[in-house]
Amino acid sequence: MAVQTIPARLRWAVDFIDVQPQDHVLEIGCGSGQAADLICRRLEGRGRMFAIDRSEAGVDRTKQRCAAHIEAGKLTVRQIDLATLRVPVKRLTKVFAFDVNLFWVRDCKDEVALLHERVLPGGSVNLFFDTTRPDQVPEIISKTAAALTEGGFRVYIATSDKPPVVGIIGRR
Ligand SMILES: C[S@@+](CC[C@H](N)C(=O)[O-])C[C@H]1O[C@@H](n2cnc3c(N)ncnc32)[C@H](O)[C@@H]1O
Repeated sequence: MAVQTIPARLRWAVDFIDVQPQDHVLEIGCGSGQAADLICRRLEGRGRMFAIDRSEAGVDRTKQRCAAHIEAGKLTVRQIDLATLRVPVKRLTKVFAFDVNLFWVRDCKDEVALLHERVLPGGSVNLFFDTTRPDQVPEIISKTAAALTEGGFRVYIATSDKPPVVGIIGRR
């Protein structure tokens, strides 16, 4: 499927994280699999991606869209909630999520601690949100940044007007 059909917000976010061929990437809430597709296209050699979604529909759509990446051994897709992630992904270089609201709507200390354990020093957690509803943006930024900071990450904010996206980036 053509990259151009993937929404600009996801293309911007994936460009931002600057995937390197050997990265080990975890995506939380892969949904339709569009970001996973973009990320896997940039992996080579030992580069790997692990994509999770708690919804069966999300996992099915990602498996369908990304069948070639799974076949090539680059991508593993699992139906699991981040809170119960018990897989050997202890060497993540990048974590990616787009519009996964758990990071700002509720306490997510356990989930952030789990990510901190699995991300290598120098690695990053990259949490992006659509900002088409500007009234919510200050709360999204402050709560997500606080959760990452309390979890031991160094945090900075990345924004784009077109497409309207904010990224809360935590560096390990
Ligand atoms: C709003 S959708 C965004 C999907 C996709 N990232 C995108 O931007 O198009 C949020 C997705 O995150 C998943 N999700 C939410 N909380 C989750 C959690 N704690 N663990 C795993 N998946 C989660 C949902 O099932 C849903 O597929």
